Amino acid sequence: MTTMGKRVAIVTGGSRGIGRACAERLAGDGWAIVVNFASRSAEADKVVAEIEQAGGRAIAVGADVADDAAMRSVFDAAERHFDRVDAVVHAAGRMPLARIVDLSLDELDAVHRTNIRGTFVVDQLAAQRLRTGGAIVNFSSSVVGTAFPTYGAYAASKGAVEVLTRVLARELGSRDVSVNAVAPGPTGTELFLKGKSEEQIDNLVRAIPLGRLGVPEDIAAIVAFLVSSAGHWVNGQVIRANGGMI
Ligand SMILES: NC(=O)c1ccc[n+]([C@@H]2O[C@H](COP(=O)([O-])OP(=O)(O)OC[C@H]3O[C@@H](n4cnc5c(N)ncnc54)[C@H](OP(=O)(O)O)[C@@H]3O)[C@@H](O)[C@H]2O)c1
Repeated sequence: MTTMGKRVAIVTGGSRGIGRACAERLAGDGWAIVVNFASRSAEADKVVAEIEQAGGRAIAVGADVADDAAMRSVFDAAERHFDRVDAVVHAAGRMPLARIVDLSLDELDAVHRTNIRGTFVVDQLAAQRLRTGGAIVNFSSSVVGTAFPTYGAYAASKGAVEVLTRVLARELGSRDVSVNAVAPGPTGTELFLKGKSEEQIDNLVRAIPLGRLGVPEDIAAIVAFLVSSAGHWVNGQVIRANGGMI
């Protein structure tokens, strides 16, 4: 299959959870996909295989989003394989949970490295390399609004993502690149489910007016809209996608 005219997206954290659903959804919409991951290469290879079996184009490239040289090589690989980059969906993130009184400062540094520095690195490269008319989608979290206990370090990092998103939208407008963030609520992925009891999950579901946990495909549908020409007029926004939780 030729990639001529095919739009190309880099999806960070594209090997699992929400990023994986975004990679598969965009591939289904005709995009060529670069699936970025941190360490679990087998999961990324599975996503690539699924996309290829469905007739799409994808490659997997491992890199820590906070490592600028490694992430530059992800953009290089995208351009080498697919000629161009039209969209960056930056889903990679980490979420340590502990009350502020207890959280270790090493954990604080680690979450800020991945979520803040990682977003800065990915967005900076996107700003340098995206084609005119492109789109950047960052990931915040609805917990920036709910301010639940134990989410302090994580929510603070996502607050930073929201500000970076709005500033970059203003900086890139003249190049016709849209920059938005999606802020999911509770969504059934490893990041959300790990370490939570059924009771904790049920309590969260009760706070969601639509009465269920989000699934990664709920979020991927919004990302697909934001990177499409139909969604291009949405710019500099944070879209809370949480079944009405807040
Ligand atoms: N799930 C929710 O309820 C929820 C709610 C609000 C916001 N979010 C946000 O949505 C995004 C996706 O979350 P998720 O639930 O899909 O997470 P997930 O299931 O834990 O998947 C995380 C993905 O990110 C990759 N990753 C982690 N650290 C990385 C790094 N330093 N560099 C490159 N890739 C890295 C992982 O790769 P490996 O497999 O190789 O580690 C994996 O592909 C995150 O930004 C998260 O904060 C999620």
